[in-house]
Amino acid sequence: MTAVKATNITWHEGHVTPEERNQLLKQKGCTIWFTGLSGSGKSTIAFTLEHALVQRGRLAYVLDGDNIRHGLNKNLGFSAADREENIRRIGEVAKLFADAGVITLTSFISPYRKDRDNVRGLHEQGKMPFIEVHCATPIETCESRDPKGLYKKARAALAGGKGMGFTGVDDPYEAPLKPEVTIDATGTSPQDAAAQLIEYLEKQGIVT
Ligand code: ADX
Repeated sequence: MTAVKATNITWHEGHVTPEERNQLLKQKGCTIWFTGLSGSGKSTIAFTLEHALVQRGRLAYVLDGDNIRHGLNKNLGFSAADREENIRRIGEVAKLFADAGVITLTSFISPYRKDRDNVRGLHEQGKMPFIEVHCATPIETCESRDPKGLYKKARAALAGGKGMGFTGVDDPYEAPLKPEVTIDATGTSPQDAAAQLIEYLEKQGIVT
């Protein structure tokens, strides 16, 4: 749990309504939350979708786990507590982006269901759409691809008796129970996944 230390603070309401922002941008701000194992295709699909949306004249932006850990979250590691704080912060940032009217794509392993559900609750409170996309690519595929060589490293660490707390190898991943969309990247190209998601966004009236 996050300790609340901010006291004597007052919320200052702005004058611009969500409807005014939607009209300005011709879209509805939302968060598309990609979750899944390392190597499951989250970032590749998120960046492909971002590109496709921008090419259609929509304002979309990816908040990517590895990238955010180069800056805002560089002081966080991979313990359960640090992963929780990682997701809490990015959930708040995504909500701000969505509130600004941006189609916000987040790409984080986000292994704990409770942390993701908290972010969902945050968006529901703010009446902003939250679309959870489970990249349900089996670990066998992720591990055979191993784009960063981290599965190999994690297996070697485990064999050496130390382990490195790598998600799916020696750290947990809790799959979503009711994701809005499920994608297995084994047999789906990033372009097809992006097209599927654009169709979903159109059906939801987020883009027209
Ligand atoms: S999360 O679990 O806190 O959501 P996040 O998505 O930000 O993780 O970062 C995951 C990325 O960090 C992976 O894609 C991988 O490149 C790298 N990484 C380094 N150590 C680990 C680890 N122990 N477990 C998982 N990913 C790791």
